Amino acid sequence: MTGPRTRELLAREAAHLAPGATDEAEAGGRVFATGAGSVLTDVDGHEYLDFAAGTLTQSLGHCHPDVVAALTRQAGRLWNVHDSATEDRAALGELLSALLPEHLDTYAYFSTGAEVVEAALRVVAAVAEPGRNRIGALRNGFHGKTMGARMLVHWDIGHQSFAGNSILGYSPYCYRCPLGLTYPSCETRCADLVVKHVATKPQISALVFEPVLGAGGVIVPPPGYWEKIAQACRDNGVLLVADEVLTGGGRTGAFLACTWLGVEPDLVLLAKGLGSGFPFAVLAGRSDLLRSPEAAAAGSTASTFGGNPLGIAVALATLTVLDRDDLIARAAALGDRLAAGLAELRERHPMIGDVRGAGLLFGLEFVRDRETREPAPDLARAVYRAALDAGLRTALGGHILRLAPPFTLTDDELAQGLERLDRALRQVGPC
Ligand SMILES: Cc1ncc(COP(=O)(O)O)c(C=O)c1O
Repeated sequence: MTGPRTRELLAREAAHLAPGATDEAEAGGRVFATGAGSVLTDVDGHEYLDFAAGTLTQSLGHCHPDVVAALTRQAGRLWNVHDSATEDRAALGELLSALLPEHLDTYAYFSTGAEVVEAALRVVAAVAEPGRNRIGALRNGFHGKTMGARMLVHWDIGHQSFAGNSILGYSPYCYRCPLGLTYPSCETRCADLVVKHVATKPQISALVFEPVLGAGGVIVPPPGYWEKIAQACRDNGVLLVADEVLTGGGRTGAFLACTWLGVEPDLVLLAKGLGSGFPFAVLAGRSDLLRSPEAAAAGSTASTFGGNPLGIAVALATLTVLDRDDLIARAAALGDRLAAGLAELRERHPMIGDVRGAGLLFGLEFVRDRETREPAPDLARAVYRAALDAGLRTALGGHILRLAPPFTLTDDELAQGLERLDRALRQVGPC
């Protein structure tokens, strides 16, 4: 339930706030005041376990003391010197090279996910062989709201679709297979079609993809899907550009989702999990690509806020803690327990059609009926609201609720989160 201070603030800002908020903010109607670890507190003093980790940004929880100290220290020293080097930048590059696969040893720094997607598209365009003037992408993918990112997937959250020059392949959406097939008897036919229509087309320069599709509903590929596509891209000179803005930094139980999926990308994009909520993004790539004269024109990686000293300091502190405290292993272990808890909830609540995930990233798909699988966005929204009232924040998108808590979640908080979700589910629908 919302309190009086929340209602007063929302009424006040309504006079000036442009519409267009997410479903999540709109349906939630909360005004948050503070965050500490996995717990958010609103302006009326109500507490919430944050199983959405900010915007899947708070892998270390809210306001981790080491990150706050690094940001505060930097805030008293220096904020912006364009893209000139600062004290922490060399150390950040060294740490990234220790965490990423060996071949991804060259980095450029940006501020947001969409910005780093655009940077990758510029690199691809710069190095592409003549005639390779189209890009491959996946249905249900999401890469941000700038024109280049929207052009990739022909759809956009909140806007009319925008037709671009990409060629789309099927994502591995087994629960709603676009081909009407079932895994494993399908033998990943969707991947064969991506190979045929994208990976082997001579006009394609790169395939831009989310290894696990996040905004599209946490679509986790079955074994075989990426193996086929990645191999075909390799054999045909199509660059693999992994958008790990959401999955990167340990969210799926490995620093890169590509690693456990066995994909060796040429470029990787990282953002959410790197900056603890501070805007920061990294384009990581093969040295020969990022240092090629075509891609490395003067100023090509610079922008006003890209790689600013505050972001660098925050990312260095975030990754240092992630590494020092072995938090990715913790995410994987917590993820196993969350998976078991969610599977148990699915047993008891027929409105949950599907539960899927990897590491600490899960999607719950709400359906009207398990037979027809008709999507039920009203149920997802009702559960989202009831969960907030029970003290649990999740991420709402259409008929899907995503759960992605901080890696620092305690065992007790995990159990409480599941209990609160169960309470919300029981409130919305009969078991
Ligand atoms: C995979 C992926 N790429 C890119 C973006 C865009 O990031 P931003 O919102 O920081 O522009 C998002 C945002 O959710 C994302 O999930």
